[in-house]
Parts: sequence; structure tokens; C-alpha cells
Amino acid sequence: MSGSVRVAVIGSGPAGLYAADELTKHDAVSVDVIDRLPCPYGLLRYGVAPDHLKMKSLEITLRKILQRPGVRFLGGIELGSGISAAELREYYDAVVYATGSSVDRRLSIPGEDLPGSFSATEFVAWYCGHPDAAVDAFTLTARSAVVVGVGNVAVDVTRILAKTARELDVTDMPDHVLEVLDKSTVRDIYMVGRRGPAQAKFTTKELRELGELAHADVVVDPAELVLDQAGKELVENNKAIRRNVETLQEWSTRPQQGRARRIHLRFLLSPVAVLGTGRVEAVRCERNDLDGSGSVIGTGKAETLPAQLLLRSVGYRGLPLPGIPFDERSGVIPNVAGRVQRNGSAGTGEYVVGWIKRGPTGVIGTNRGDAKETVEQLLHDLDALPRAPYRDPDAIIERLNERGVGVVNWAGWEAIDAAELALGVAAGRTRIKIADRAALLIAAANALRG
Ligand SMILES: Cc1cc2nc3c(=O)[nH]c(=O)nc-3n(C[C@H](O)[C@H](O)[C@H](O)COP(=O)(O)OP(=O)(O)OC[C@H]3O[C@@H](n4cnc5c(N)ncnc54)[C@H](O)[C@@H]3O)c2cc1C
Ligand SMILES: NC(=O)c1ccc[n+]([C@@H]2O[C@H](COP(=O)([O-])OP(=O)(O)OC[C@H]3O[C@@H](n4cnc5c(N)ncnc54)[C@H](OP(=O)(O)O)[C@@H]3O)[C@@H](O)[C@H]2O)c1
Repeated sequence: MSGSVRVAVIGSGPAGLYAADELTKHDAVSVDVIDRLPCPYGLLRYGVAPDHLKMKSLEITLRKILQRPGVRFLGGIELGSGISAAELREYYDAVVYATGSSVDRRLSIPGEDLPGSFSATEFVAWYCGHPDAAVDAFTLTARSAVVVGVGNVAVDVTRILAKTARELDVTDMPDHVLEVLDKSTVRDIYMVGRRGPAQAKFTTKELRELGELAHADVVVDPAELVLDQAGKELVENNKAIRRNVETLQEWSTRPQQGRARRIHLRFLLSPVAVLGTGRVEAVRCERNDLDGSGSVIGTGKAETLPAQLLLRSVGYRGLPLPGIPFDERSGVIPNVAGRVQRNGSAGTGEYVVGWIKRGPTGVIGTNRGDAKETVEQLLHDLDALPRAPYRDPDAIIERLNERGVGVVNWAGWEAIDAAELALGVAAGRTRIKIADRAALLIAAANALRG
């Protein structure tokens, strides 16, 4: 194909940005990275725990991709409500979907929707200052909280509940979040796994952080650490699992320090009902036995955990996008090595990366190799791509503006960035996130004024 090939990457999370990185290594390609939010970086900004400062600093690397010649950031445009998949093809020769997996999976048990029961997704969005999260979504007036699931997200939300606001003011958390955390009455946090410790999904580094908290003791029952044959084999053959189990074993004999909060790491319990009159009061669980194969069987014995707050952290799920194929069962856009499949066959011009390509697993780095695989397909198709009719890069912005869609460009994001840093400096912190969508847009508009 002669001239520059114009590609739209929909989603400015790690996967979308790694795709833009790979694409613009090729001189003939220019990329617009489009996001529904006025701010880039996806879950790096709105998911990664604010107290994981080193991981957060990855923004510096991703920023360089967005600043590269041949790359534009166009925020505030939602695929679906702002622009359709068909319209995109009028402006771009190829489209890469990188919209992630933004909604929670459900437990499907009675009482799950009682007030006081939330998904970890909601809690994470709130403490990360996501513009979709209501400022007053959480009060933390509970004494006892249950976190269901033993993955790294469960560890994140447990740690945030166990830390004091003072410990968290080094983060970019919005003031309204720190104020609620400061008044939190939560004392006991139960993190509950349905299988055994050898089957837990958390990683050792993240687990160990729970044991290093200044204001929380970790409580582990040695009886729940007993391994079956499958567990023993995992511990023997898998270093990461061995370290997890050893850490838990060490904690099960460690004396408590009488700290203000307690994290109870529980295993072999499946939540079967959320109990309460009008709001969450407890979570009833069934005790499980290991079945020797890595799975569990219910024993019929019940244990009820007190909880005025329930956070369900049992994984994420992708959302279908209008006009784009979607596999409801696996929650991904069907694809072959990143080429979107329509009616069972993978064509040219539409591609997919990240969590919406392979499901909600993997750390940020996993998305780099994943994006590379997809971009290889796109580059292979380069000469066969049908050419979009509109070639002026500003035509899409004009069309969206006519329709009342306010596009936040790179200067707009930089103005938001500067406003957040200024708020931080004024309060003796490094950055304070602006959570309110209108306030974000006002900050972005300052780029135009000055
Ligand atoms: C709570 C949490 C904490 C995590 N912490 C870590 C960690 O500490 N370290 C680590 O390595 N990994 C971590 N991960 C995993 C990591 O965040 C993911 O691997 C990664 O973000 C997936 O990238 P993605 O680009 O596919 O999706 P996302 O990061 O979700 O990006 C998707 C982007 O698409 C945009 N979008 C969605 N729909 C539309 C639409 N219709 N139109 C336009 N734009 C749209 C979204 O606004 C978003 O910006 C964490 C995950 C979670 C859930
Ligand atoms: N610091 C980091 O690096 C970091 C931080 C956060 C997230 N992440 C990554 O992001 C990805 C998503 O993390 P995640 O924690 O959301 O998912 P995850 O790792 O898949 O963990 C989900 C947990 O929910 C449990 N679960 C699922 N359905 C359940 C049910 N019906 N009842 C009870 N328990 C149930 C699972 O147990 P079973 O195993 O029994 O199904 C598992 O313990 C992971 O790849 C993770 O590593 C990384």
C-alpha cells in the first residue's frame, strides 16, 4: 500500500499502547490511540494499586509511546456511543480493539446484591478515582469485611483495607478516598479461597506484603494448609507455589502482635449465601475438602463469617462492543493470533490485543508479547488492507466535534496531568487524581485556553 497506513487502536491501556509501539516501529504506519476516558493508560491508571509506586511509574515508559511522532491520543471517544465500528473503517485502514475486560464476574449466590456487597472492580475503581465511580460509593463503616477470591486483585483490596490513610498519602488517591479510609472502622478482613493454599492465584511478592503491614496482623489456621496429593506435587514442582505455601506456613506459627487490624487468610471455603436483613451482615460458606486432583468437594458443613462489607474478587469479564463479534462464553473477541474472526473466518483490517483478546489474566508485561503477535498479523496484511475513504487525519475529529463529542487530545491530557500534579504539590503530596469527569474535562479545556 502506498502512503501512510492509518490504524486506530481502541483502548489506551497497556495492550493498546504496546500495539501502538510495535506498529510505529514501521515507518509506513501512523496510529490514533482512542479511549472512552479523557485519560490514557487503562488499568495502569485505574487498576494497579496506588501504593505500588514502582509499577505505577511504568506510565513514564508508556507516555513515551504516546509522544512518538506518528502516534496521537484521542480521549473521550467511546466505541459504541461516540463512534461506531463501521464509521471507524471510514477513517482508518485497520482497527485494533484493546478495550480490556472491565466488568466483574458474579458469584451467583443468594444475597449477592444486598447493600454492602460490592465487586472488587467497584472498590478498585473508587479508590483509583475512576470517573465512572461515584465519589460516595464506599463508607467503610463495617467492622468486618469478607473478600472472596485469592488472586492478586483480592490481595490488593485486602491490603488497601488494612492500611491507614496516613500510609496511603504517598499515593495519588483522591482526597475523598483518603478521608473515608481515615475514618474506616474495618478491623477484621477475611480473604477467602474456595480451594487450598497450593491452588491460590496470588503471587508470593504480593502475598508477602500482607505480612509486612505496620497496622495489621495476619492470621492463618495451620489446619487449612494441609496439602493433598495434587498440592504436594505442585509444591514440589512449582517454585512460586512452594514459596506461597512456605510463607503461609511461616505465618501460621507466627505470634500475633496485637495490631489494630487482622487479615484472616482462609482456605477451603465456598461462599454459598450472603445473609442480612436489608444489608450484608454475614457470608455463609460451605467447607470444602480437597479431592486429590486440584479441585474440591463440598462437605455440607457450614461456616458463617461476620461481614458488613463484602468484596467479590473472583475475576473480570470482557464486554461486547456493538458491531464487533463476541464470544459470550469466554468473554473475548474471537480471533486467530489477534486477527478478528467474523462468521468463523479471520479477515483483514480488524485485530485485537490484551484482555479482550485472551481474557482477564496476565500482568502488564504479558500484553507486550501478545501485542507483538497481533501486530505481526497486521503488518503481514498491510498490502491487502482495504483503504479507508477519508485520508485527512483531522476529518474524524471534525465529524465528532459536529456531533458534540468533545475529543481530549494529547495537550488536553497533559493539562489534566499538570493539574493533578499541581493539586499534589499544594497539599504536600506528589499527585492527587481528579476523579470527577466534568472536572477532568475542565482541566483538559485549559490546554486550549492557555
Ligand atoms: C485491579 C487490578 C490490578 C492490577 N495490578 C497489576 C499490577 O500491579 N501489575 C501488573 O503487572 N498487572 C496488574 N494488573 C493486570 C493489568 O492491569 C492488565 O494485564 C492490563 O491492564 C490489561 O491491559 P489491556 O490494555 O488489555 O486492558 P485495560 O488496561 O483495561 O485497558 C483498556 C482500555 O480500553 C478503554 N476502553 C474500554 N472500552 C472502550 C470503548 N468502548 N471505547 C473506547 N475505549 C474503551 C478503557 O477505558 C481502557 O483505557 C492488574 C489488573 C487489575 C484488574
Ligand atoms: N500485582 C500484580 O502483579 C497484580 C495485581 C492485580 C492483578 N494482577 C493480575 O490480573 C489478573 C486478574 O487477577 P484476579 O485476581 O482478578 O483474577 P485471578 O487471578 O483469576 O483470581 C480469581 C480468584 O477468584 C476465585 N474464584 C473464581 N470464581 C469463584 C467463585 N465462584 N467462588 C469463589 N472463588 C472464585 C479463583 O479461585 P479458583 O482458582 O478456585 O477459580 C481465584 O482465587 C491476574 O493475572 C493477576 O495476576 C496482577
